Amino acid sequence: MSESFLLRYVHEPDQGELDAYLSRGGYEGLRRALAMAPEQVTDEVEKSGLRGRGGAGFGTGRKWKFLPRDPAVTKYLVVNADEGEPGTFKDRTLLECDPHRLIEGIVIAGYAIGAHQAFIYLRREFHRARGLLERAIAQAYAKGYLGADIQGSGYRLDVVVATGAGAYIAGEETALLESLEGRRAMPRLKPPFYPAVKGLYMQPTALNNVETLCHVAWILARGQEWYRQQGAPILFSVSGHVQRPGVYELPLGTTIRKVLEAAGGMRPGRAFKACFPGGSSAAILPEAYLDTPMDYDLTKLDVYGSMLGSAALIVMDDSTCMVEVVARTVEFYRDESCGKCTPCREGTVWITQVFDRILHGQGRTEDLDLLNGIAKGMTGTCFCPLGESVPPAIYSTLRFFRHEYEHHIRTASCDVRAAAHA
Ligand SMILES: Cc1cc2nc3c(=O)[nH]c(=O)nc-3n(C[C@H](O)[C@H](O)[C@H](O)COP(=O)(O)O)c2cc1C
Ligand code: SF4
Repeated sequence: MSESFLLRYVHEPDQGELDAYLSRGGYEGLRRALAMAPEQVTDEVEKSGLRGRGGAGFGTGRKWKFLPRDPAVTKYLVVNADEGEPGTFKDRTLLECDPHRLIEGIVIAGYAIGAHQAFIYLRREFHRARGLLERAIAQAYAKGYLGADIQGSGYRLDVVVATGAGAYIAGEETALLESLEGRRAMPRLKPPFYPAVKGLYMQPTALNNVETLCHVAWILARGQEWYRQQGAPILFSVSGHVQRPGVYELPLGTTIRKVLEAAGGMRPGRAFKACFPGGSSAAILPEAYLDTPMDYDLTKLDVYGSMLGSAALIVMDDSTCMVEVVARTVEFYRDESCGKCTPCREGTVWITQVFDRILHGQGRTEDLDLLNGIAKGMTGTCFCPLGESVPPAIYSTLRFFRHEYEHHIRTASCDVRAAAHA
């Protein structure tokens, strides 16, 4: 029987206080982990089936196993708390409402990989989260959950909070490492710079998302068998035209329809039109896909670029012009492109120029082929996934909402907006 746990205590006003956290079973996972060998901790996480919640969905235990075991090699743990994917806000909830859970997950992960220094790369705009997190870290140091000889185990771990550079690309793991080292956030060439091989300061590094590490704390507290029985809960960030936007904890594989229902359904008098299932980097899905399970198999759908990503469901109702949605989305990627490679740097600019003229009544019939052609030129050619995030929204809307583009071009007006405001 599945129970909610990631969000169980987030509404308790004192959950960020160490004593309150301890009174609710906090740091039990760490106590269990420290009684095990580091390899056993990694095995426990691998057996749990946990996959990273930052977007790529890589097996967490497997990722840790890529790091060398040799204790003489300096290793780092880096926490990705940049949370820049549009529509994603579940990590902020965990950071602000359950910071000790993250700290516990960090110490367990650090112990498992043999790191003695961890960095939390925190989104610059998260001022409130930063204050609460730093307060929790100070409490953890004061009571021996961080620092030298953690809980008498002989294990040492220090944690530093570093604020992000205010760029979406800084969430990409190698760009994040560049930024953390004091350079401009630009992705590194892979191979050889996979973080597990050459990461922070060119040392082996495990890089994990905030939610991933909160799962780790629960897995160690209750055991991987219990965790598996929970149906791999995942936090969905639901935004857009629903009645109750927010963060929802539901089993992986919940259908889009059921996630929508959890968020109170559509606004009164409005019908579902489409959604981004996994943040703005995913393809846009229309109503026919409402019964699609939200899991890693989304990539197997017959829609190019469909994916679970960061599980951010952005919902749009029938008052939404899809041409405008894609135009705004590509503007975001244009502004956030780091400029390193041509298809992304130039492609995003060209696409926004085409959208500009379509939305300003100067669209041409051949523009749809042009959009498709530029998107094609960006597919499989960009240096990192940011540029590759642009084509899915274009391909999917050209397929499912082509008539809206055609109407804009033919009449220099938007029938969707006109109908919504009639
Ligand atoms: C452009 C871009 C932005 C990203 N932003 C984030 C982010 O804000 N937070 C995050 O955890 N992962 C982000 N990722 C994914 C990370 O590169 C990485 O896969 C993840 O942090 C690994 O942690 P996990 O294995 O625990 O999921 C981003 C990836 C890309 C390509
Ligand atoms: S795809 Fe875009 S963000 Fe990524 S390296 Fe190229 S220019 Fe930079």
